[in-house]
Amino acid sequence: SVPGLHHVKSLPLIPVVKEDNIRNLQDMEIRDDDVLVAGYPKSGTHWLEEILSLLFGQQNGKKLRMHSIDFVPSLTTKENDDLLPMISNLPSPRVLATHLPYEYMPPGVKAGKCKTICIVRNPKDVAVSYFHYHKNTNALGLYDGSWEQFLEVFHKGEVVLGDWYEHVLSWWLHAKDSNIHFCCFEDMKKHPQKEIERLAAFLDKPVSEEITKGIAKATNFDKMRRTAKNNQGVCIFDQSIPKFMRKGKVGDWKNYFTVSQNEKFDKHHSNKIGDIGIHIPFEINH
Ligand code: A3P
Repeated sequence: SVPGLHHVKSLPLIPVVKEDNIRNLQDMEIRDDDVLVAGYPKSGTHWLEEILSLLFGQQNGKKLRMHSIDFVPSLTTKENDDLLPMISNLPSPRVLATHLPYEYMPPGVKAGKCKTICIVRNPKDVAVSYFHYHKNTNALGLYDGSWEQFLEVFHKGEVVLGDWYEHVLSWWLHAKDSNIHFCCFEDMKKHPQKEIERLAAFLDKPVSEEITKGIAKATNFDKMRRTAKNNQGVCIFDQSIPKFMRKGKVGDWKNYFTVSQNEKFDKHHSNKIGDIGIHIPFEINH
């Protein structure tokens, strides 16, 4: 199993996320002009952050950053009790982020007060990316199991933030809500400009083709990786940049899964999805 996890309402969390943080979300004030990014870890959240900060442009001469509502934004902060006050002091518009399932959201989010962008990614690529994350993340006791062992743990949902299916389906059940916008990592890779246009339309931000083209170029993996190296320290999880911006590819799972692991995954996938009876908008075998 993964060392260092604790559970809040059966959800496995890293030590810096306390039960209080989760409880406090119920009192969190949501503003009409907030934008919330929701996604299972390793689905491309930070990629979206970069796209959004370019779409929004500078604020008081500063780049608009995403603020997690799940835990402290910095490992150097000793206590995370002041998380919500800090967020409530941010100027509008705020870009907020969460890795939590839908049910934990503040009432304002559920009431559709703000706009929410959900990002999903093929769970096979998520599993591979997450394997590296669990091996490298200082916020946890480092995972020392094999890929094969990790895949078992992933299937059981005993990884940080729990089961991928429960997470994604909790949000997907609200896919038709007018204030929720879904995007896929795979589509963003395939036609970034089109996805940026869809995002801009959802956010009511009129942008020219030239701008969306520029954003697509600036947020391309290699470009972002180079820039991140110059800026260091992107993430609470303190993964060094090469590990955090690992490969950014679609289909890296093929370099990890054996034929039988893949068959087992497909079976597990159709059981889980079948149980809920809804359709996830992408193919998991590409
Ligand atoms: P890999 O480990 O497969 O490379 P998150 O930000 O939600 O934690 O997701 C991290 C994953 O998104 C990592 O996947 C990371 O490399 C990838 N990623 C980050 N920026 C990206 C970009 N601009 N283009 C494509 N993938 C990106």
